[in-house]
Amino acid sequence: TDTGYELWLNYKPVQDLPLKQSYIQLYSQVNLPQCKYDEVIAEELKGCLKATLGITPRFISNTRASIQMSYCKDKSLGMEGYLIRNNNNKIILQAYSDAGFLYGTFHLIRLIQCEYPLDRLNIREVPALDYRQLNHWDDLNGNIERGYAGKTLWKWDELPERLDERYTDYARANASIGINGVVLNNVNADPRILRRDYLKKVSALAHILRKYNIRIYLAANFAAPMKPSSTPDVMKKWGGVGELDTANPLDPNVQEWWNTKVDEIYSLIPDFGGFLVKANSEGMPGPQDYHCTHAEGANVLARALKPHGGIVIWRTFVYNPQIDKDRIKRSYKEFLPLDGKFDENVILQAKNGALDFQPIEPAQPLFGAMKQTSLMPELQITQEYIGQSTYLVYLAPMWKEFLNFDTYCKGAGSNITKIITGKVYPTKYRAMAGVANTGDSNNWTGHHFAQANWFAFGRLAWNPKETIEKITSEWIKSTWNCDRSAERVITQMMMPTWNNYARSHSPYSLGLTTQVSCHYRAGFDIRANKEWKIDNKGIGTNRTFNGTDYVSQYFPTNCTHFNDIKQCPELYLLCFHYVPWNHLMKSGDTFEKEFVESLKQGVQQVEENIQLWRSIREKIDSRRFEEVMNCLLKEQQDAKAFYESAVGFFSAYLPHK
Ligand code: GCU
Repeated sequence: TDTGYELWLNYKPVQDLPLKQSYIQLYSQVNLPQCKYDEVIAEELKGCLKATLGITPRFISNTRASIQMSYCKDKSLGMEGYLIRNNNNKIILQAYSDAGFLYGTFHLIRLIQCEYPLDRLNIREVPALDYRQLNHWDDLNGNIERGYAGKTLWKWDELPERLDERYTDYARANASIGINGVVLNNVNADPRILRRDYLKKVSALAHILRKYNIRIYLAANFAAPMKPSSTPDVMKKWGGVGELDTANPLDPNVQEWWNTKVDEIYSLIPDFGGFLVKANSEGMPGPQDYHCTHAEGANVLARALKPHGGIVIWRTFVYNPQIDKDRIKRSYKEFLPLDGKFDENVILQAKNGALDFQPIEPAQPLFGAMKQTSLMPELQITQEYIGQSTYLVYLAPMWKEFLNFDTYCKGAGSNITKIITGKVYPTKYRAMAGVANTGDSNNWTGHHFAQANWFAFGRLAWNPKETIEKITSEWIKSTWNCDRSAERVITQMMMPTWNNYARSHSPYSLGLTTQVSCHYRAGFDIRANKEWKIDNKGIGTNRTFNGTDYVSQYFPTNCTHFNDIKQCPELYLLCFHYVPWNHLMKSGDTFEKEFVESLKQGVQQVEENIQLWRSIREKIDSRRFEEVMNCLLKEQQDAKAFYESAVGFFSAYLPHK
């Protein structure tokens, strides 16, 4: 039975017999050069071809093999790119470097899973971003912050001696979608991860992940050099690792501590990627505790890592109330003045929106504004504010909206994709991170459909320009092995979910509408007139010139548009404006009317999805069918409760009750 454990590597017999014949002919012998990944490539191909075609490929090293893998001199393929062609009934896979064979193999596998014809293959794939990472918010005690799929995958008690078989399957899944870096632990970082006993455990994991071209990074606590008794209160729940009285980045002993620690890490993990740091954010220690800047702090770690080729990923998620009355403006105000002050091996990591992983937000204005600093987006795959593991919400459309967001930093067309791929400023690093939605639940992500978000994240990190249609269709085919008509139904279920979730849970980018700590249930009453204004004349936050002036953090065209209630994109209306209930919308209806309609969309969406899912019951294996149905039924209850709470709350303010 299908449990979902196999994810999108759910190899099943190819149904179309003529096609199957042609695959058998082309995949039966493989000429695989010796390379770093040849063992896992052979393993994966054997498993896949046995299950899909019923054959065991022969590995032969001559030109007669039907699949020819070989190195080529095309340097522009880089360390990870590949070419796939069909040449006189032979499949040619070429790469400039070893990892190209690994990724190319997963592409060859995908061709079968998606039943693509092989006659006119002409594929050239080079990842647009070099760093494609998952960030795990996993604590050392096994919990996952904002995780909704069980406990952590990392079995710290058993490591390094025992290696859970899931580690390999985790690595396979990531490699198949191009993920090449993982941060193992929570950004609210327990310093003990840097202790030698933990580093040995990390090293054991690195040993498995590197077989799939995945590097390990660790979230480092800025106060790690300190002895526990000297650390700030937030850290009392953790043990310590250092022995100093300070973490002052200007103190030579502190610098020395980091240098020594980093040397130790590399002695155990030679391909260690680097550190991810959350500093001076939500109580976490940081350089500002010593009147130093984020740059001064980041650079100390960067200098320790530099000789080994490691990087520092420094988060920009800060919102110190002293910086500005409006929380949304703080990160930009703190980081923009530091542009150019970071060492070259530092990347800043910014959430897609300036607030906090809301269902919908305009893009963080630092994108396009930072000219001399590499800036990478942090997307959230785990659905903290977006229905957790109960709601079916497909996030690819949200991420596309973000990637297509035009910053106008160098005129029209300066969208986020261009910025992060280095087409606007020649910044050194091209990178993207996603906060993982994995856990030890049998299907990895809790909701079977949440697997699609992991998949889509990887594919967009490889190629931000990939179409959602292609990604979605490939996910469905390789996960559900269903026929075309069921695929259409599943697509129909997934595609509108983000829009409808956002419209019903955070209408017109209202933002912060849930309870304060759980971020799932409605919390309009607690948030009202704290996070946004509401009265019987209107709702929203005035962030225009005569409000908090957030609009001025955007480049002129956006600034002018966002500032003007008539030109502001309606989907962002409440983020930038306090909107009168009687304001006229583009549709000709009042804002009040549209707002009320908008709230209903969550319940409507799930009701439709229940019908659609029922309609394909015969085409889906029973276990996964039932499990998804149970989620949908729970979603239906919770969406109703959310809606009722919204209506109950807003009716007190709406002119037409
Ligand atoms: C959110 C989230 C926290 C997390 C923080 C962060 O606020 O609720 O759990 O630690 O983001 O990204 O640092």
